[in-house]
Amino acid sequence: MTQKILALYSGTSNLKLAKEVAEYLDVELGEIEIRRFSDGEIYARIVKSVRGAEVYVIQSLGNSVNEYFMELLIIIDALKRASAEAVTAVIPYFAYARQDRKTKSREPITAKLVANLLTVAGANRVVTMDLHAGQIQGFFDIPLDNLSALPLFTRYFQDIDLKNPVVVSPDIGGVARAKALANRLHTPLAIIYKRRPAPEVAEVEEIIGDVKNKDVIICDDIVTTGNTLFSAARLLREKGARDIYSAVTHGILTNNAPEELQKSEIKELVITNTLPIDESKIVPKLKILSVGSLLGEAIKRISNKDSLSSLFD
Ligand code: R5P
Repeated sequence: MTQKILALYSGTSNLKLAKEVAEYLDVELGEIEIRRFSDGEIYARIVKSVRGAEVYVIQSLGNSVNEYFMELLIIIDALKRASAEAVTAVIPYFAYARQDRKTKSREPITAKLVANLLTVAGANRVVTMDLHAGQIQGFFDIPLDNLSALPLFTRYFQDIDLKNPVVVSPDIGGVARAKALANRLHTPLAIIYKRRPAPEVAEVEEIIGDVKNKDVIICDDIVTTGNTLFSAARLLREKGARDIYSAVTHGILTNNAPEELQKSEIKELVITNTLPIDESKIVPKLKILSVGSLLGEAIKRISNKDSLSSLFD
């Protein structure tokens, strides 16, 4: 039986992370010619043959979300037309996941649309991390592996001398994730009740659980404007919390979130590099953990048809 070739490609959204994954797997990133036409159209050509290959394409969907998503679809299309045997879209940050249901009449369910488009483009499998809502897996009729950064956060916080630690979910939707971190760190859980009176506006009202004289870790999947985190931290401080840490997988950090982080009650915000972080956004209170080895190991196991579950331990 001939051995199938594993080929790794990357879009332009997070080349640094893609290179880390390539290094872990000890493969070269495949060459793609990617250009923009003067009207903004994207052109992508796979430089060498991928006929019969098992291809993984890494593309995170942050910052210029729509641009990078379209680029990913075009790369997948090019790979399929070049007779790649199977294409796995490795999407460290899966955008539009917060639009996963209708909350008002006449709204779209954009997460489902994104799933449809990936499938129509020819993706045979998707690998992602800390999906905003686990049930988005059901929007796909192809396999989806939803990896988690929780093992990285667990190791990180186990090395810090926390006093009476408690993990806090900043909203009801994040309870399962925060509870999973609390279980790993053997801490109690507290939950904040948050309202969203308007998009990107967060009002935190009450805490269920005891945080007085305790070090807290606010656990979330995404930090965009930081409004959720900073208002949660203020409330926690009012309720008598000691040191306030935060563990968030995807650091989008729009507006002036890094400056606000420096001024906030948060002692340290730990994120991952699922999205590239511009040098200008790196402030002293921000700590970035790499998911490169985790993604590399996941790709290796998928390719070898090994189980992924021990990656979550
Ligand atoms: C919401 O449900 C998410 O889990 C995050 O809490 C939210 O997206 C963070 O956004 P922001 O930083 O703008 O408050």
